[in-house]
Amino acid sequence: MNDFRRQWADARADVLRAVETVGASGWFVLGQQVLDFEAKLARCWGATEAIGTASGLDAIEIALKACGVERGDRVLTTPMSAFATTMAIIRLGAIPVFCDTDSNGLIDFHEASDALRTFPEIRYFLPVHLYGIPLDTRRLRELIDEFALTCVEDCSQSILAASLIGHAAATSFYPTKNLGAMGDAGATLTNDAELAARIRRLRDYGQSAKYVHAEIGWNSRLDELHAAILGAAFLPRLAGWTERRRTIASRYRAAWRRDDIGIAEAVPENACWHLFPVFTPHKASLLAHLRSNGIGTGEHYPAVIPDQPAMQGVNYVTHGDLPNARRVAKQEVSLPIHPYMTDDEVERVLAAIKSWDQPL
Ligand SMILES: Cc1ncc(COP(=O)(O)O)c(C=O)c1O
Repeated sequence: MNDFRRQWADARADVLRAVETVGASGWFVLGQQVLDFEAKLARCWGATEAIGTASGLDAIEIALKACGVERGDRVLTTPMSAFATTMAIIRLGAIPVFCDTDSNGLIDFHEASDALRTFPEIRYFLPVHLYGIPLDTRRLRELIDEFALTCVEDCSQSILAASLIGHAAATSFYPTKNLGAMGDAGATLTNDAELAARIRRLRDYGQSAKYVHAEIGWNSRLDELHAAILGAAFLPRLAGWTERRRTIASRYRAAWRRDDIGIAEAVPENACWHLFPVFTPHKASLLAHLRSNGIGTGEHYPAVIPDQPAMQGVNYVTHGDLPNARRVAKQEVSLPIHPYMTDDEVERVLAAIKSWDQPL
């Protein structure tokens, strides 16, 4: 699904130079490298502010807190995402409200408006641009406006694809992400200077000045090493990596001959293809076939979030039975798509797909 050794062979010299810079600087947490990386990230996102954090989960959680989410507040979100999306809500003592997805597994705007009419007290929205497929910008903006929502977008899988429609966008630099660190890291983007200042304070023990703690915060500071490696070695490669992902996705889509395996529909041009999801009712058989042919595979995600064992005893709400999300969970298989895949490897995946016999 990824090849970090090829990435290392390509980026090694730039990474080692970044490590040398940090070592020589004698400054390891929240320093010049973090400031430089935040500035570059904000520029490439078209946002005025970027604030580095220790993970994507923290980026979401701190952004929600900075946007005003308090214990007992309801937050509308999707049941089909990494568990971290929901965890961010729960850790704040807030209540996730799940509504159904569309057939691609992304939050469905009709379902979302219906949920918002059913629960008019909801003021917060945490949508996810899943698989690197951006949600419809116009509909997202309309929903925010119609229901006067405060919105934090989970852009962990959608760097360079989703813009900043809501009040803040959070992203993850977990190593497998399109822009992955050599460890855990994340960031929040916003165009609101006041919100950015609060997020900066919250990530650093709630400090407003040295040894002055204005509120209870987190230890979620970004390390200089991660920032230097991201800023000097990986961010400059991101546009090329994303182009390669788009080329592979186009090849998969152009060569797709199987009506019995669904692919994502109506995907906008600017998708960044963090994952390439396909859908079949015979998921176990397809997974086994691909694995026996030496093809890496993934499942994103095999269960809807409310069905996770950790949700037992947690206060949450589901709007309806979530039939689409449940179907996606049962049917989704992720094919390999990463920037260091060769054309031959892409063709091998297509050949393996072609040779699969759907069980009767
Ligand atoms: C959609 C989504 N949200 C949140 C996260 C959490 O990010 P992290 O693993 O950096 O905490 C991830 C990554 O795992 C993700 O894919």
